[in-house]
Amino acid sequence: MKQAIAAGPMPTYNDRVVRNFALAAVLWGVVGMLVGVLIAAQLTWPALNLDTSWLSYGRLRPLHTNAVIFAFGGCALFSTSYYVVQRTCQAPLWGGWLADFTFWGWQLVIVAAAISLPMGYTQGKEYAELEWPIDLLIAAVWVSYAIVFFGTIGMRKVRHIYVANWFFGGFILAVALLHIVNSAAIPVSFTKSYSAYAGVQDAMVQWWYGHNAVGFFLTAGFLGMMYYFIPKQAERPVYSYRLSIVHFWALIFTYMWAGPHHLHYTALPDWAQSVGMVFSLILLAPSWGGMINGMMTLSGAWHKLRDDPILKFLIVALSFYGMATFEGPMMSIKTVNALSHYTDWTVGHVHAGALGWVGLISMGSLYHLIPRMYGKTRMHSVPAIELHFWVSTIGIVLYIAAMWIAGVMQGLMWRAVNPDGTLVYTFVESVKATFPFYVIRLCGGLLYLGGMLIMAWNVWMTARRPVVARVPVGAAAAAA
Ligand code: HEM
Ligand code: HEM
Repeated sequence: MKQAIAAGPMPTYNDRVVRNFALAAVLWGVVGMLVGVLIAAQLTWPALNLDTSWLSYGRLRPLHTNAVIFAFGGCALFSTSYYVVQRTCQAPLWGGWLADFTFWGWQLVIVAAAISLPMGYTQGKEYAELEWPIDLLIAAVWVSYAIVFFGTIGMRKVRHIYVANWFFGGFILAVALLHIVNSAAIPVSFTKSYSAYAGVQDAMVQWWYGHNAVGFFLTAGFLGMMYYFIPKQAERPVYSYRLSIVHFWALIFTYMWAGPHHLHYTALPDWAQSVGMVFSLILLAPSWGGMINGMMTLSGAWHKLRDDPILKFLIVALSFYGMATFEGPMMSIKTVNALSHYTDWTVGHVHAGALGWVGLISMGSLYHLIPRMYGKTRMHSVPAIELHFWVSTIGIVLYIAAMWIAGVMQGLMWRAVNPDGTLVYTFVESVKATFPFYVIRLCGGLLYLGGMLIMAWNVWMTARRPVVARVPVGAAAAAA
């Protein structure tokens, strides 16, 4: 492998793997969102299942979640963490070919998921559907990732470990633990296995995993991005370094206990549900502490938001993070959950976090990083970044507003009773009432996908065309 050894004050970084993961993130983003749009259309017009098992909603839904979380989100996390750890440690990636193995191994996992899920092979655990041979490959790739990441930290030329690396490191360690424990299963054939746990323990292990997948995969890693790319793009130091350390420890400690809020009113003991609720409420504090820390990094430089679309992506991502982490604790209150659970309110909450936070922070970070991977100071078209920002923001608002209204409406319709105790509405009446909101969600999804296609075009042009001399925008100016 052509990995240069640090020489003198300016080490040569291994950016090939960073670039590969960045390009893969864009590609899988398009694919995952396309499947999202398809399943949104299937929910609106069920005939789109086309009477074909491998195109049915039940099989494509996990394909969507796996593609957007692990393929799009995962590749963005690999790319940015490798980029950040090298620069903040002033050392090239450690481990030689192992970094390339993480790239090709992860792509193999994605392709295996894309084939096996539509074929109907699944463990039936949400966000952990993949069958045991793929689980083993994930474990191998993840352990290699940890070796490369922590090996690089071990070889650092600066004493201090920058806070972004704490978040990336916490995310890598926690995901290894979650994946290995939750995937424990007894194989009966190459394509079928049964969980090592049974009954309510199985449910609790699964949602300990599921919630921490949110906390560590969809949150901590992306906070690592926030702590590096916002200060870089804004050219300001982090607002409070002390707060960032408190943020880290408070967040990782609290997340671990919040899982039971997914199992309210189930066979899980009542006290365990209450523990989950209390820790979820506590989570509001570190989440908002982190959000404020990120936002306040712009203090004194708010004007940059006006003409730097990359900064818009990063800061608006934080606003959606704040929104989702306010809504989540509210939904974890048992009486609120009695209304929201099983409704589209949950789906609205998920996508406020997924499209607003995970999506926008990844896109902003990739827009910062990709031109640098091609020796350029900025993307091929800055107006296209601006257009992407507005198209996707409008898409998110349409998506989540439609789901909030639909969700509360469904919850209220299902619980409405006549004086004689009979239900006011049949279930199918609630489905009919939801139809217009599904159409609006589909429009929102199409806009968001449209934005991603604009990004793909811009990345393609950046990779193949020299930059024409124009006045660089925002932080790109200083970088130039
Ligand atoms: C074009 C953009 C997208 C569209 C149209 C879309 C659409 C959908 C639809 C229709 C569902 C099924 C909802 C249901 O079960 O009723 C869903 C589920 C889900 N999507 Fe998306 N999605 C998009 C992007 C994303 C992204 C970028 C992420 C993550 C980064 C994401 C994460 C999820 C998750 C976690 C679920 C499962 C939700 C749950 O179980 O409550 N989606 N999506
Ligand atoms: C303080 C932070 C948060 C808390 C306390 C929280 C709480 C909750 C609650 C109570 C539910 C509904 C559980 C149910 O009724 O089944 C939920 C679902 C969910 N949340 Fe959050 N949330 C938080 C932040 C986030 C963020 C930032 C994301 C990022 C994308 C996210 C992603 C999800 C997903 C994917 C689900 C659906 C799980 C499923 O049923 O498949 N949450 N959350």
